[in-house]
Amino acid sequence: EIQTKQHHQKNFIFDHCDTVELANQYGTPLYVVSENLIREKCRAIKEEFLMKYPNTKAAYASKAFLTLAMCKIIEGEGLGLDVVSGGELYTAIQADFPMEKIMFHGNNKSYEELEMAVANNVGRIIVDNFFELEMLEDICSSQKKKVNILFRITPEVEGNTHSYITTGQKDSKFGIPLQEKIIESAVIQVTKSSYIDLKGFHFHVGSQLFDQQSYTKAIATAVKLMETLYIKYGFVTEELNTGGGFGINYTNEETMPIHYFVDYIMEAIEIGCREANLKIPTIIIEPGRWIVGEAGITLYTLGAIKEIPEVRTYVSVDGGLPDNPRPALYQAKYKAIVANKINEAADKVVTIAGKCCETGDILIWDLLVPTIEAGDILAVLNTGAYNFSMASNYNRLPRPAVALISDGEPQVIVERETYQHLIERESIPSHLINNK
Ligand code: LLP
Repeated sequence: EIQTKQHHQKNFIFDHCDTVELANQYGTPLYVVSENLIREKCRAIKEEFLMKYPNTKAAYASKAFLTLAMCKIIEGEGLGLDVVSGGELYTAIQADFPMEKIMFHGNNKSYEELEMAVANNVGRIIVDNFFELEMLEDICSSQKKKVNILFRITPEVEGNTHSYITTGQKDSKFGIPLQEKIIESAVIQVTKSSYIDLKGFHFHVGSQLFDQQSYTKAIATAVKLMETLYIKYGFVTEELNTGGGFGINYTNEETMPIHYFVDYIMEAIEIGCREANLKIPTIIIEPGRWIVGEAGITLYTLGAIKEIPEVRTYVSVDGGLPDNPRPALYQAKYKAIVANKINEAADKVVTIAGKCCETGDILIWDLLVPTIEAGDILAVLNTGAYNFSMASNYNRLPRPAVALISDGEPQVIVERETYQHLIERESIPSHLINNK
């Protein structure tokens, strides 16, 4: 017991697991995800949203992190699943996820993807444009099936976040423009269909948001649309999906409890509907990052250390941009801990570099660390969302394994890629085989 205690004081513990042992056991780079932390977030959504407000639903935006095991965790917590591609839908199907709880998004779903969604009876298709609407009509009539849809609208709100992840602004590739003629003709067109049932509307303002005003503005816009459609056409909006986007803590921002976001959303809906004399529709939220972002870390082994006197010390890790493109793409900031030296005074500032042939492959600028050496284990925190799901094989780096910690016990839910995996789908045309 004393031994384990001493041991525990030496290394960084993540959800009851010694991260240095995890690195030794499974190798690095390694994604580590905590089932309990994911479940805690889902339960907070249940307690502070679903149980507090009647007539509400929540779905997990699977683009943040999706594996078969993740589908099972989300199903177990009773949440729905937001998918945006045939690949995400396929994963959910293979995990036996209840199809009526699937919401299918995307600004350019293919005919095949829509066919797959209709054939599998997904709960909602969030239609983004007229092209999609026509394909859907065609598919439904040939499969003789009815579908329930929402229209995604562009709420014309500028989310206060990185420009690459705002989506609700007027000049956006997403959603049906709010101009009366366009949105109303979409509604009229669909109400004539015998296959497509329009349940309501969806918007998504952006991602990694902290300001509640973005949501309240978008809701005001949606309510206005609902009012117009009711007055002009008697159309009753049964559902309003307010998207995801709830921000989490990466460095110094505080992660807000879910009620910080949903209380504002619900208040704005209630006020808006009361003023417009409308029945409050079913409200749906679909966070991704908020559920999984803080539930994951990435472990790396430190390698080359390059000190440029009076300039900077670069410390390279055995992964980088291919397993976490967010710093290069969005100037995203991360916190990290030298997992095997948590009790040593941090008195040096270094820059954590990835191993890619790419100047932008820097994971963390100016990280405060103790005296470090090659072989130390670095734990980068809050990498649960949009790391594994955005990973690539750039420079032919095999993608890391994912270890899931369940009640203190780790197990691999995604195997590490091998070199063989890298060439598995390749072939050499015959005229090149005997190349001299
Ligand atoms: N619903 C819709 C329609 C979305 O487009 C998104 C995210 C979400 C829900 C979930 O957003 P969340 O709650 O995770 O913020 N790769 C970027 C994030 C892109 C998010 C795109 N859409 C990143 O790494 O920051």
